[in-house]
Amino acid sequence: MVDIWARKSTADLLQEAAGVEGDARASPLRRTLSALNLVALGIGAIVGAGIFVLTGHAAAANAGPAVTLSFAFGAIACAFAGLCYAEMSSTVPVCGSAYTFAYAALGEFVAWIIGWDLVLEYAVGAVAVSIGWSGYAVSFARDFGLTIPPELASAPLSYDATTHAWSSTGAIFNVPAMLIIVFITALLVAGIRASARFNNFIVAVKLVVILLFIACTISSFTTANWVTASNPEGAFIPPNAGVGVYGWSGVFRGAAVVFFAYIGFDAVSTAAQEAKSPERDMPIGILGSLVICTTLYVAVGLVLTGIVPFDRLNVPDPIAVGIDAAGVGWLSPIIKLGILFGLTSVILVMLLAQPRIFRAMAHDGLLPPAIANIHPRFRTPHVATIGSGIVVALLGGLLPIGLVGELVSIGTLFAFAVVSIGTMVLRVVDPDLPRPFRAPAIWLVGPAAAATSLFLMLSLPMDTWIRLAVWLVIGLVIYAAYGRTHSRLRASDQR
Ligand code: ALA
Repeated sequence: MVDIWARKSTADLLQEAAGVEGDARASPLRRTLSALNLVALGIGAIVGAGIFVLTGHAAAANAGPAVTLSFAFGAIACAFAGLCYAEMSSTVPVCGSAYTFAYAALGEFVAWIIGWDLVLEYAVGAVAVSIGWSGYAVSFARDFGLTIPPELASAPLSYDATTHAWSSTGAIFNVPAMLIIVFITALLVAGIRASARFNNFIVAVKLVVILLFIACTISSFTTANWVTASNPEGAFIPPNAGVGVYGWSGVFRGAAVVFFAYIGFDAVSTAAQEAKSPERDMPIGILGSLVICTTLYVAVGLVLTGIVPFDRLNVPDPIAVGIDAAGVGWLSPIIKLGILFGLTSVILVMLLAQPRIFRAMAHDGLLPPAIANIHPRFRTPHVATIGSGIVVALLGGLLPIGLVGELVSIGTLFAFAVVSIGTMVLRVVDPDLPRPFRAPAIWLVGPAAAATSLFLMLSLPMDTWIRLAVWLVIGLVIYAAYGRTHSRLRASDQR
């Protein structure tokens, strides 16, 4: 009987670190990152399509002006999970992905499920951001008199969540979304990584864009814009019109949708081995970037719904709609260019992470070894990078952002729940393991992280749950057919 619950010891993980990460980081990692660098790393990975695109979708379809509350709820769930990620990443500072954490705490089977689930966070996340990128690219080109025909810049498929019906939009492919993925995949194969300096530049651009937007439009804020056909009284929380449509259930569904905007703070956890003093800097990096992003998001949500009636925001470029409504059109190209830069860096981080997780799984024998191959000249995991890039580009060309964003949110929330449970389990099964950072009050924080993640998952529509379930079942079939019998961990146990 094979033991699918076998855990990997942290000693094994550390020993493997050099092998798994041997491609571009063959030499031992140097501890160079300060708390400020980590905060910048977090903001670079976090601020993207969530705030620049999905805010409009969530305000129009779910929460109205109360999208501000949705942002606040999303942040609470992330803060609890963030503490667990900080503890895990300082305790098991290898690769730093939830996959590795799960292997150490909960065993191979759960690790596989999480590794497979992380495809939803990283690969499908890149799909969502590429669609957002396309929306702003089209809008930016329009400012210069260049019209990209909608048939070549939007999804050919649309999904109606009420009737559960797919329909054709008449478009052919979302070409800009595909092009940006191809471009970034090529950069990643050639081994170009965003350096800390480039990341700092992008972070500065993103912060300036958001602050400029707020500063230049806030004078047009009026609660008169809260009045729409579905909100005739102009209430902050529009009256409920069905599950997840306005009212409190809309606020919570909105929170689950805009939760997407916070994804990426876990990227800070991947740098635990490079932090100067992980016990102090990991929580500052994770929680600091979360606090800054939450403040900005709440402000943008409030301003945007106060300068445009929320029913006009279900568009690919809601920030641009806000700028036009506030009568500061001159600002538009500057902000759009900044947003395009910002979205590019988020796609880069996601497409950098995905192949490395596949590679770690292939290294463990759970996926075919060819996936772990390293390019002889570029020293990058080219097979996994190109494979992920092709699939992401195709999906980015075909699918609408709302659907993809919800799938990313549910997949990531699931990973958060498992990591929080894993943090508690590891405290019990391995209490003496050195933990440079310990989450405070773990028996409150851990259950709160798992419960808030589950609660947000429950706020998402049934269709999204079905897609998650189908994805996980496909994963189980692959595990049963391949990983279970090829696992290196068990092969070495049996020797
Ligand atoms: N948080 C990232 C974004 O909003 C994924 O694009």
